[in-house]
Amino acid sequence: MDIDLSVTLWGIKFKNPVWVASGTFGYGLEALEIYDVSELGAVVLKGLSLKPREGNEPPRIVETYCGMLNAIGLQNPGVEKFLKEIYPYLEKIDTHFIANVFDESEEGYEEVVKALEEVKKIVAYEINVSCPNVKKGGMIFGHDERLLANLIERIKKVTNKPVIVKLSPNVGDIKRFARICVEAGADGISLINTILAMKINIDKMKPELSIKTGGLSGPAILPIAVRMVYQAYEELGREVPIIGIGGISTDKDALEHILAGASAVQVGTANFYDPLSPLKILEGVKNFLNKKGFATFTDIVGKAHGV
Ligand SMILES: Cc1cc2nc3c(=O)[nH]c(=O)nc-3n(C[C@H](O)[C@H](O)[C@H](O)COP(=O)(O)O)c2cc1C
Repeated sequence: MDIDLSVTLWGIKFKNPVWVASGTFGYGLEALEIYDVSELGAVVLKGLSLKPREGNEPPRIVETYCGMLNAIGLQNPGVEKFLKEIYPYLEKIDTHFIANVFDESEEGYEEVVKALEEVKKIVAYEINVSCPNVKKGGMIFGHDERLLANLIERIKKVTNKPVIVKLSPNVGDIKRFARICVEAGADGISLINTILAMKINIDKMKPELSIKTGGLSGPAILPIAVRMVYQAYEELGREVPIIGIGGISTDKDALEHILAGASAVQVGTANFYDPLSPLKILEGVKNFLNKKGFATFTDIVGKAHGV
């Protein structure tokens, strides 16, 4: 059977639903040495802020059981340098890019979006309100209902591109936060970002990471992410697309997210230990559809809800 893996969201046609997650794929250029990045449905760029950021002091990465903790702190060159020095290379890659946006203030978020508004290959924004590794901004917006709604409303006023809000798993009621985003005008939600966690070095008798806590990612978080995507879909159905992230390293993991309600998935930490995993996942999803007799990918989105 000829399987159609394409997915059209916000009127934009994506080749397929397998994307790569912000911060785990740089700006897409390193991977070009390994495979043709244009085979991916989309690349979500490393988080961009208005001014360059150095990130946190090392150590800022540590391995854990079935995952890793990171406390990078959103190191990036700033939007201006990105546009001058990195973006020209992206123009040659035949897939869509999504800019992951972060800043410490509402004005900062607005300015980054404005700076990217005319950039052709960036088709949407993913607003990071969920980074657990920075003192200002980030999770503060994602955890305060009023600040979150206000931020989304402000960003929507300065852009014509779709705004996806990346939710924090570190909130109690994910349905409530998903609903707040949609009411404030979000065009989609993505979840989950990393889970606030800690590892202690027993020899040194202190936390491994310089800022003590970090964000847990990798296979360890898959069941939590799937639960949250499922709950978000219970709340929103297909009102807006839900993008599933968290613990995806095989086609089976991606399918769990999709059946829970994800209209596309992002592969994160797996890129570090198996750079070809997004392509293997794509192939696996295609084989699954074939085996189960579905002609299009969208037929199985949310299927675990029994509809
Ligand atoms: C080293 C590292 C850097 C990250 N940087 C960002 C970032 O800049 N912006 C963002 O929204 N998420 C960032 N994330 C979170 C990932 O995009 C993703 O939401 C999370 O890792 C869960 O997916 P995974 O389990 O597949 O890695 C980062 C994650 C890691 C491991």
